[in-house]
Amino acid sequence: MPWPTVGLVTDEISAYGRSGPTDPTLKRVRTRHFRRAKEAGTKITGLTSYDCLSAAIFDQAGIDFLLVGDSAGNAVFGYDTTLPVTIDELLPLTSAVVRATRRALVVADLPFGSYESGPDEALHTAIKFMKLTGCHAVKLEGGARSAKQIRRIVRAGIPVMAHIGFTPQSEHGLGGHIIQGRGRDGEADLIEDAKAVEDAGAFAVVIEMTPSAIAQKITAQLQIPTISVGAGPHCDGQLLVWTDWAGFTTGRVPKFVKRFANIGETLRDAAEAFRAEVESGEYPGPEHEYSDSPAS
Ligand code: KIV
Repeated sequence: MPWPTVGLVTDEISAYGRSGPTDPTLKRVRTRHFRRAKEAGTKITGLTSYDCLSAAIFDQAGIDFLLVGDSAGNAVFGYDTTLPVTIDELLPLTSAVVRATRRALVVADLPFGSYESGPDEALHTAIKFMKLTGCHAVKLEGGARSAKQIRRIVRAGIPVMAHIGFTPQSEHGLGGHIIQGRGRDGEADLIEDAKAVEDAGAFAVVIEMTPSAIAQKITAQLQIPTISVGAGPHCDGQLLVWTDWAGFTTGRVPKFVKRFANIGETLRDAAEAFRAEVESGEYPGPEHEYSDSPAS
């Protein structure tokens, strides 16, 4: 499949290369493209990814950035929340996504317990992800409370995507999956968080599960792009957890998720067909067999 000619960096002639992933002119999405997209009103697209196969597909489809999210806790490891996820669990997933992409900017999510103690710990963790995985940026949760960490990481030359609004690593502190930024105080706090992460040097900010109107106000007030995860249509970009978006997740998905595919049903149908064919003897057929002849 040829690499697409859509997305953030089309203004640079060889944004995707002319002949596919080995084209030496293939260009990587950079943080400067995020800023330029906001200025030009071009929407930014992001999906989570945790493996090389999905990453290659999303990359070829022109998705601008891939987040190796700690949502891997639910989507890969089967935890109930993202809290148990460790650095050691995320490192190999992040490396796999980096290896599979040529164009998308790959963002590594810093897991709970790897940056909250202070700027030194945060920088140490960010460097570990950059060095061991080859990712292009890191993401961490928290607005004003994480500003010192963001500033220290950015000063070391590492791009940071911030994350405000509903922050899943604080789900117990927040009292559950609750919409953030409602009411006058909620709105003021969220605006303060957004400004704090911009001042600290974040190149973009994810806003999760807030009313559209407040996300719109923040988007208008910030120079850096806002990326919505359930924060409405007025943000500069949209990000979804791929297993929710593709109908792979079992159980309830949040209201803001639109299902663009039904992978779960497709796989279940395939597994049932496989079982039926094995049981009936239909599979494997002659075309799937090796004979004694070396020519076949
Ligand atoms: O881990 C993740 O997937 C995330 C997004 C939901 C923003 O942090």
